[in-house]
Amino acid sequence: MIKTFKTPREKFPILNNKIQLSSCSQSALHVEVKNAINRYVHSWEEEGMDWEGWMTACENARSIFAKMINASPSEVAIVSSVSHGVSSIATSLSNKARKKVLITDFDFPTIGHVWLSHSDQYDIEFIGGNENGIIGVEDYLNSIDEETLIVGTSHVSYYNGYKQDLKEIAKVVHGKGSYLFVDAYQSFGQSIIDVNEIGIDMLSTGLQKYALGTPGLAFLYVKQDLAKSLVPKITGWFGQSNPFGFDIKNVNYGEHAKRFDTGTFPMINGFAAEAALNILNQYQMSDIEKYLQHLSRVAIDEAEERGLLIKSPTDVEKKGSNTAIYVNNASEVEHRLREKNILVSARNDVIRIAPHFYNEEEDIKKAVRELARFIN
Ligand SMILES: Cc1ncc(COP(=O)(O)O)c(C=O)c1O
Repeated sequence: MIKTFKTPREKFPILNNKIQLSSCSQSALHVEVKNAINRYVHSWEEEGMDWEGWMTACENARSIFAKMINASPSEVAIVSSVSHGVSSIATSLSNKARKKVLITDFDFPTIGHVWLSHSDQYDIEFIGGNENGIIGVEDYLNSIDEETLIVGTSHVSYYNGYKQDLKEIAKVVHGKGSYLFVDAYQSFGQSIIDVNEIGIDMLSTGLQKYALGTPGLAFLYVKQDLAKSLVPKITGWFGQSNPFGFDIKNVNYGEHAKRFDTGTFPMINGFAAEAALNILNQYQMSDIEKYLQHLSRVAIDEAEERGLLIKSPTDVEKKGSNTAIYVNNASEVEHRLREKNILVSARNDVIRIAPHFYNEEEDIKKAVRELARFIN
């Protein structure tokens, strides 16, 4: 664990008057991300259009992201959301003989919505966990069989921050000849992700949560060898081998993951993404991870001391930054904390305290103290 982390807090102006602990939903705005968005606006206003500059920002974001997960840029597509990424995958596998799709109870609901909308093509089943929402490797082992085409799961739970051992899961999934899809929206930007080391076949994440960016742009990683056997039905001119051939009569998918690009990139979000990823890369992801484990320890100790019910794992190595505390009127409490300039995020029956590297111990203690006052 790392107990202090030197972040220039002045680069996040909101921290001057608010305690932002909502990185599981939206992380704080860094001045360089704001400047990048303004650069796009400026180029639009002053130059009229700058396709080359706009495309460069998006391609840079793609390349930086690829490097961060130890992939090559040709294995990464630019999509608009994780929902879009998963939908593209769902449409691209219908030529496969196996038809069983396994997702988990603790995935973000959009994963269920996407796959269930393809029930005419696949048999969708859920892997359930124990009463704390924890799914063990043995649960995967018991659910996957020779019919299983793909297993979709989340690296870190959006609800209670539970972090899975993906490497062990990948072994089980591949042992049965199935593909592994990972939703990394709650881990990218706060955890090391190495798709090769773990053995991930496909992964999607956006930038809004721990990656310091905006919604509107997300990435879809598809392993090189696999991509060429997939035929996405969500497509468009950017997904073609030569978008600027303007050939309306033929579909010629681009190489590798490029075939999952669709229409014009969300340029303004590309500017934000490039800047956000460059900021994250100024730090070692392993240091961010260890510091957030320390802040988790602080949150858990503080909550236990006040008798609050913690819904997250209390072993900080088995969780991400988010510490979920049970509150029966969570969204009301979120609003009341906001009035005190403390930004947390409610989900169902929990308040999620989700710090990033720019937060300090005192932020967490103050938030838990105020939360305890409302609960009691
Ligand atoms: C783990 C996870 N996956 C997916 C989503 C939704 O992603 P999108 O809106 O980009 O489809 C969220 C949003 O909170 C999330 O936490």
